[in-house]
Amino acid sequence: LSSLVVAVDGTSGSGKSSTCRAVAERLGLRYLDTGAMYRAVSWWMLQHDVDVDEVDEVTAHAHTPQLESGTDPRRPTITLDGVDVSVEIRSDAVNAAVSPVSTVPAVRARLVELQRDIIGAGGIVVEGRDIGSVVWPAARLKVFLTADPSARAARRAAEAGSTDVTATQESLLNRDRIDSGRAVAPLTMADGAVHIDTTDLSLDEVVDLIVGLATAPA
Ligand code: C5P
Repeated sequence: LSSLVVAVDGTSGSGKSSTCRAVAERLGLRYLDTGAMYRAVSWWMLQHDVDVDEVDEVTAHAHTPQLESGTDPRRPTITLDGVDVSVEIRSDAVNAAVSPVSTVPAVRARLVELQRDIIGAGGIVVEGRDIGSVVWPAARLKVFLTADPSARAARRAAEAGSTDVTATQESLLNRDRIDSGRAVAPLTMADGAVHIDTTDLSLDEVVDLIVGLATAPA
């Protein structure tokens, strides 16, 4: 398993993070949340008054923030210029900014390069939108997770301690629309990916399925 790369892509709120962390723990692998990287860059842009809808402005700063991703699945971290921003990147402001920022090619080019550096050593579960299609098409196992919008919104709202499931669902669907429609690396199911619809599955059931696929003889 030491060289295994598991690529997990899917829509917002399909359960990717909890699933990937649990799979990595079960298999003794590292874990990389690429969404956290896009979120951290977006948070930096907001902090520095960059207009996230202006491609030129975002491009000019694409390489400025110093990012570091901790890959322990029990305690994943993301630091920006040396400061842990794991909590800050989950704000509503970042939820709204991250998909526009993620459409900018310079941002994607930079983060894909960082991601490939981390994945290169192998032994890792990586979650995102374009891992199986663009970042690491050679991954031995590719999984595509989806779930009904209402199930996704209910989970996300519960995580965030929010009662406004309708607003959460709108925010998720809006991100899906931008993520699926963008020109560079749109959210799409990669060739050879296994599709798992998690709507009616528990976290443990999804984890068992993926661990089974990862450890099945080739
Ligand atoms: O996974 P998460 O919901 O935290 O991702 C936040 C946003 O980051 C996504 O909606 C998408 O716009 C962007 N993203 C991306 N490519 C990835 C991971 C995330 O564009 N590989």
